[in-house]
Amino acid sequence: MIKGLCFVLLWACEPQAPQPVADAEARFLDSLLQQMTVEEKIGQLTMYNGTWEMTGPVPENDDAQVRANNIKQGKVGAMLNVLTREAIFQAQQMAVEESRLGIPMLFGYDVIHGYQTMLPIPLAQASSWEAEVGRRANRLAAAEAATEGISLAFGPMVDITRDARWGRIMEGAGEDPYLASVMASAWVRGFQEDNLSKPFSIAACAKHFAAYGFAEAGKEYNTTEMSEQTLRNVVLPPFQAAVEAGVASVMNGFNELNGVPVTADARLQRSILKEQWQFDGFVVSDFNSVPELVTHGYSPDHREAAAAAFQAGSDLEMESRTYERYLQTLLDEGRVSTDMLDDAVLRVLRIKYRLGLFKDPYKYCSPDKPILPDVSLRLSEARDIARRSMVLLKNDGLLPLKKQQKVAVIGWLAGSKDVPLGNWRAQAVPNSAVSLLEGIRAVSEKEVKYAEGYRISEGERTFIYDLQWAPASQAGFAEALQLAREAEVVVMALGEDCYQTGEGRSQTDLRLKGNQQELFEAIRKVNPNIVVVLMNGRPLAIPELAAEAPAILEAWHGGSAAGDAIADILYGVYNPSGKLPVSFPYHSGQEPLYYNHKPTGRPVTNDFDKGMVFWAHYSDAPAEALYPFGYGLSYSKFKYTNLELIQEEGKAQWTAQVRLTNEGEVAGEEVLQWYLRDLFGSVTRPVKELLAFEKIYLAPGEQRVVRLQITEEDLAYHWPDGRFEAEPGDFTLMVGGNSEELLSTSFTLQKH
Ligand code: NOJ
Repeated sequence: MIKGLCFVLLWACEPQAPQPVADAEARFLDSLLQQMTVEEKIGQLTMYNGTWEMTGPVPENDDAQVRANNIKQGKVGAMLNVLTREAIFQAQQMAVEESRLGIPMLFGYDVIHGYQTMLPIPLAQASSWEAEVGRRANRLAAAEAATEGISLAFGPMVDITRDARWGRIMEGAGEDPYLASVMASAWVRGFQEDNLSKPFSIAACAKHFAAYGFAEAGKEYNTTEMSEQTLRNVVLPPFQAAVEAGVASVMNGFNELNGVPVTADARLQRSILKEQWQFDGFVVSDFNSVPELVTHGYSPDHREAAAAAFQAGSDLEMESRTYERYLQTLLDEGRVSTDMLDDAVLRVLRIKYRLGLFKDPYKYCSPDKPILPDVSLRLSEARDIARRSMVLLKNDGLLPLKKQQKVAVIGWLAGSKDVPLGNWRAQAVPNSAVSLLEGIRAVSEKEVKYAEGYRISEGERTFIYDLQWAPASQAGFAEALQLAREAEVVVMALGEDCYQTGEGRSQTDLRLKGNQQELFEAIRKVNPNIVVVLMNGRPLAIPELAAEAPAILEAWHGGSAAGDAIADILYGVYNPSGKLPVSFPYHSGQEPLYYNHKPTGRPVTNDFDKGMVFWAHYSDAPAEALYPFGYGLSYSKFKYTNLELIQEEGKAQWTAQVRLTNEGEVAGEEVLQWYLRDLFGSVTRPVKELLAFEKIYLAPGEQRVVRLQITEEDLAYHWPDGRFEAEPGDFTLMVGGNSEELLSTSFTLQKH
């Protein structure tokens, strides 16, 4: 009998009287804990890298034999980056069948937007403004990952990001805490369903706790500093939403926050996360973030780093092995208590229990692999998710295209079957995406000719190394110009290589790289009917394109079915319904740029137009966004009228309503957005904040009155002194199809 099953039997032999599930869990875990030595407990807090894939530095003197022996001695509780179901099965066998207590390991992996079938990058999924899109995406990802042995996904990343220079903006839901909270919760539910013990549920991990997305100047791994108000009102809400959705784990990060590296931040991890929010899963450190406490200048050596991280509430150490080396000594010295140790161990064991690993340690990796639905079904799911995640930025009437039109497809990105897979692509097969060219060819009734025009990057393109930029060559221009001349419409893909975005890909310049803009200008001279399809992982500064291209579709890095999804939109098979979850700047120098900023003492007013300079603006670029948060067009035309607000007699409760009409000729979906402004506060409040939103389907000519109930709690915010309360005073309520074009009305919250 394999050892892991002893637990099943023990468990099954317990008295059969009905007992709450939580009691059964606690009893099982307590009894297991009592059997464990200190060394075995520390083992549960140690996660080894499998070295199949590197996502950080490897410790010196690493040796496969030593690792294997440690696993067999119960000194390893989890692993990451172990690839193939078979390899995971073997590693799990060592833990379960050869260690004294047979405790199964967790196997973690960066499942960020798909495992093999790639869904659009998370920033794109957030552009759908549909929780269901996020849930469906991670459901598919979880199913594929679970059948390959993965029990823990290092996602979702729920870092709020206001700075497009930061490469990891692609991994999250953008700049707004409410939209990000909705997505955080949906992403967690997608991975975990309503119960971790289900066959294809895997544990999720909300990361990076906290404020990593606020890296100064958008520079990767950089310092963050922020006020308590910003932390509480902007950065923490998506994490809290993930915890409320039952997220199994939380990852800390590489950054310091206000002078304390977050890996060693006890207030964040113990007080807020574990005490205030009652989070009962585990906190995992980021890859090597414990020893990096030394390089931060926070801990003098690795032993102190282990002490600081552990005392602060980092339960499971990812790869760097300082717990393995120093926790025992720290215990002996009384610097770490047994209670603390047991609490951390129980957190890890609890998730294993909930996943059902004590009942079946081979749940995810047994040799009888469950059969998933056909890949073509998965691709059609990816296609629908992708088209819901794209944003139409401009349309002077060129779109939708007709199948009979003669189209030329231009741009290296349009032919690429690899870039749409995105960065953080897990086990996607390279070059396996449907390219834009293929998507168009599948629909067009005319021959579709293609020219690369200009290639952005060259040489080896990988997750680990910086891209080799291609020289700004015009060698491919002539061929592209010839095709453009012969075509009725040019579909031109511009943007970023996927390896220009993601971890370690901070950039100072958000304009199109290389000769892309030049190619666009040259084509425009011979054929102005250009539909620009943007493929990118961050907001870009593209004022020239916005002025000159008749149509622009933001397709992001759209995943395995990207080309088909784009073609669905270009040919009107699907009416675009996405909205931007991030502001697009005119100029890189505007970053960080976000819609929910503070008013300042000198906002731009009418006097500014008279030429005075003493206002919050730039002398050489606009202050506002090129495309604002919440912006996105449709082939339908939506109109907002009749905003009304009725207060319930004598109560701090209101019902708002607005009429939404589809004045267009085709059915479509509109993301109706409610915003709130708290006009005066003991601390200043943002110029507007997203309060609620809803995606509404309307047939041509149809109208609907949409209502919103507002309570006092909806007006509350976190005060610097810790209160979460509404402050009596005046408020503005706004509604519309983006954060700029809004109807508004006002109301007052009376003192009571
Ligand atoms: C470092 C990244 O910051 C984190 O997000 C990721 O999950 C780990 N590496 C593991 O690859």
